[in-house]
Amino acid sequence: MTVKVGILGAGYMGKTHGRILRGDPRVILSAVFDIDAQRKEEAARELECRAAESEEQLMDQVDAVYVTLPNTTHAAASARALERGKHVFCEKPFATSLEDAGKLLELCRSTMSVFAVGHNRRFAPAYMLVKEFLAGGRHEPTLAQFKMNRGELESPPWVENAAVTGGYLYETPIHLFDMARWLLGEVTDLTAAGAARTYAEPDNFSLLLRFESGLSLTFASCAHSTWAFPFERIEIYGRYFTVETAEMERVSITHGLNKAASVQDFHALKMEQKWGYAAIDANFISAVLGEEATAVTADDRYRSVELADRCYRALRSTPAEAQL
Ligand SMILES: NC(=O)c1ccc[n+]([C@@H]2O[C@H](COP(=O)([O-])OP(=O)(O)OC[C@H]3O[C@@H](n4cnc5c(N)ncnc54)[C@H](O)[C@@H]3O)[C@@H](O)[C@H]2O)c1
Repeated sequence: MTVKVGILGAGYMGKTHGRILRGDPRVILSAVFDIDAQRKEEAARELECRAAESEEQLMDQVDAVYVTLPNTTHAAASARALERGKHVFCEKPFATSLEDAGKLLELCRSTMSVFAVGHNRRFAPAYMLVKEFLAGGRHEPTLAQFKMNRGELESPPWVENAAVTGGYLYETPIHLFDMARWLLGEVTDLTAAGAARTYAEPDNFSLLLRFESGLSLTFASCAHSTWAFPFERIEIYGRYFTVETAEMERVSITHGLNKAASVQDFHALKMEQKWGYAAIDANFISAVLGEEATAVTADDRYRSVELADRCYRALRSTPAEAQL
């Protein structure tokens, strides 16, 4: 069986997924559509598929749609595809408001279509290794510290426009909100401080998240910190262990003095493997074919949006002197 796929949004991620899908023998990459005609034609040439005349024409030709548009358009475009009976892979974020997330969740529940969200880090070998280390309860995390920075908000140009991203938290830290829940469980309380320092929206955040397990996580995110390596790092501490990542390149697990740390290095993997893009696409196609479930559940999709929303609400209620 094959799945006919169309790509809505022929930018960086549309082409990234397109290149991967072309290599999957279960996929026929049918068409691409972008409001930018030049991008659309270039992508169609590169991906060797049709350039659709419109979104509607794209959707008419396919079984599944990749929504790789700027953030605030995700929920409506995904809803249009679901209403036409299509399976949907939507890049993160699922939605940029709780209201849209709730409506889309209801729609997902009322259809037979598969819906996946691009929380690719769940498929990155580095994070899968951390998940495996924590699985089974033998290594109980007691404290954690995450950092997820960006160098700037310049590329693509719309990332500095909160009206298009939904806000910086929906654009970048949302990846680690999903990771935090996946690795550490449900969040019960959240405190946030943040401020706009370089851009017109809050771009520096210090967050404190408390989990059902009693664990607390401090999370820092700066949108303009240069791309100093590692711009993304998680550290998880437990009884005589530390797990530490450096982006999706490396994981170190340390058990104490006089003991060698175990280090796994993934830097030589191709980006599509290292960042989990190839595996999340394969998971989506398998789900469409009824062979496995999507890794990110409906609840997960909603909860990552909910965390971003809670941070912004906490920020609005934070006294000015507590801001960064
Ligand atoms: N999972 C990840 O690691 C990851 C990485 C980067 C980006 N993303 C997400 O992927 C999405 C796309 O980001 P990108 O970097 O590819 O952006 P991009 O700007 O390179 O591509 C977006 C494309 O959508 C097109 N577009 C805009 N409105 C449209 C419309 N109404 N109809 C058709 N086409 C339209 C634009 O012309 C552009 O070509 C964003 O939501 C972003 O957050 C995810």
